[in-house]
Amino acid sequence: MSIYKVTPEKAREMIRGQEAVLLDVRQPEEYLEGHIPGARLCPLPELEQRASEQFKDKTQPFIIYCRSGRRSILAAQKLEQLGYEVLYDLGGILDWPYTVVTLTDEVILEMSAFDHGDAKRIQHFMKVYEFSRMIAACECIDRKTCDILMVASVMHDIGIRPSLEKYGDAIGPHQEELGPDYARPMLEKFEGLSEAFIDRVCYLIGHHHTYTNVDGDDYQILIEADFLVNSMEGEMDRETIRSMMERIFRTKTGIRLLKTEHDL
Ligand SMILES: [Fe+2]
Repeated sequence: MSIYKVTPEKAREMIRGQEAVLLDVRQPEEYLEGHIPGARLCPLPELEQRASEQFKDKTQPFIIYCRSGRRSILAAQKLEQLGYEVLYDLGGILDWPYTVVTLTDEVILEMSAFDHGDAKRIQHFMKVYEFSRMIAACECIDRKTCDILMVASVMHDIGIRPSLEKYGDAIGPHQEELGPDYARPMLEKFEGLSEAFIDRVCYLIGHHHTYTNVDGDDYQILIEADFLVNSMEGEMDRETIRSMMERIFRTKTGIRLLKTEHDL
């Protein structure tokens, strides 16, 4: 018998000390919504194949969890049959009393590394992300669209650096041209993201300075949030701001925020 029960407290200690491989055996959508930091995604139906490819050392300990504790037991039993020697069943993330990380948190870390040394740019995307999140929440945007928006709002300006390097400027069309090619490989490193998700984020990055043919809530909110921050950071007269509000703003929350910000 090589399956042991482990409490969240003990598991957290082991995770912090990197004493075990942490496996999340849920589906990708569940994992992206929130997982324990450092967890590897290994959905139960793919467990056998992934284990044989990724975990050659059968003596290293594993901590396994799922949503409610049902799949984690099945996964532990499967791994035991495959010869893995030390298995800790943590049960369900529903009983995990600590904070979890989302996909967006991980993207923020990646983008901060990409913009290393440039505190202003990091602050900029953090503000755009916060405004996007708030507008999406107040406007009851569906979760899938919101997930795309969160990632796009953090990554939207990824084209600035390559644009400065290649063209010596960071005008909208250059950013839009170069951004997606930098975003795609970064997104492909994250586990569990669908092709459609990555395509849409890249599309938004490639269009965030284009105010025509806005074809979705994610697109609309991204340009509003970006303008809310740009009009706060730069010198812009009230007339320009007011006319932008009339031309491009559509959401009640975005309009309300812009009016408050500039006393319009
Ligand atoms: Fe921006």
